[in-house]
Amino acid sequence: MEHEHPDPVRAGRRRRVLITGAGGQLGRALQEAFADDDLVALSHKEWDVSHPPDDTVSQGAFDLVLHTAAWTDVDGAEANPQEAAAVNVGGTANVAALAHSLGAPLVAFSTDYVFDGRKGAPYVESDAPNPLSTYGRTKLHGEAAAGSDAWIVRSSWLFGPTGRNFVRTMLRLGADRDEVAVVEDQRGAPTYVAHLAAAVRELVDSGAPPGIWHLAGDGDCTWADFAEAIFAEAGLGTKVRRIRTEDLARQAPRPAYSVLRSEREDSPALPHWSDGLRDCLAAHSESRRA
Ligand SMILES: NC(=O)c1ccc[n+]([C@@H]2O[C@H](COP(=O)([O-])OP(=O)(O)OC[C@H]3O[C@@H](n4cnc5c(N)ncnc54)[C@H](OP(=O)(O)O)[C@@H]3O)[C@@H](O)[C@H]2O)c1
Repeated sequence: MEHEHPDPVRAGRRRRVLITGAGGQLGRALQEAFADDDLVALSHKEWDVSHPPDDTVSQGAFDLVLHTAAWTDVDGAEANPQEAAAVNVGGTANVAALAHSLGAPLVAFSTDYVFDGRKGAPYVESDAPNPLSTYGRTKLHGEAAAGSDAWIVRSSWLFGPTGRNFVRTMLRLGADRDEVAVVEDQRGAPTYVAHLAAAVRELVDSGAPPGIWHLAGDGDCTWADFAEAIFAEAGLGTKVRRIRTEDLARQAPRPAYSVLRSEREDSPALPHWSDGLRDCLAAHSESRRA
């Protein structure tokens, strides 16, 4: 039976928001962007979404569910397709079933890796996906599992001051190497998680219709360009040696071009990725000083 679900504002109370994957980089950024709300932020340990939720979660009353929990190890998914699908497809189905039973709208996150990169021009919401990797396929099936009444937010090349991401990897490598080899033949739109989280808040607060939304940092670059910008912004003298994707022999294929743009009129606009990089490095230094 569906729970009664009065509008929290009309009912004179704060909106109750459930966040999955709360220990991840986007999960953390969403906790800051939705800090005015009544948050229940569950880490992997607190709810493994590949299993149905326990009673404390399934009997909770939530007005909104933000589902960030995912298998995000793109190369690892090639050797562990079932485990990746259990989280990205089965887990999303579990979260969608919960949201549905509570009558709460759902935001589910997806990726530029649902595209094959052959378009060579920015991908918009109506472009046909054709994932190259197991990760991309599981995320695409996860979009279907989220259901037609969810907001499916596709984003790309996420980075932030915490967790595993390219910016933190480059800072670590740059601290003790003179040169780092980085691919120059993959182009995308790096996206600062705080900018994405703010745009998600804008999206849900605007009453935008459900469906697919492309929300990514403005501008685009290659990984090699991005690495050079990171070293310059961080004041490191590390050089970037530009290499090709085939030189890396990674397990998962990646699209050569996966810039995301929105064709929707009222889509929230994110700042340029270079502004995100500046803000991210400032937040990163702050967290190291604290
Ligand atoms: N990172 C990117 O570049 C990127 C790009 C486009 C879209 N996305 C999508 O954006 C979303 C957030 O990504 P992110 O970058 O924040 O990833 P992240 O930092 O790796 O965070 C994902 C979180 O999910 C948790 N998790 C993994 N398996 C779980 C499970 N079975 N049950 C519950 N939690 C589980 C992880 O916990 P543990 O670490 O403890 O396993 C981690 O805290 C994901 O849907 C991802 O597919 C990411």
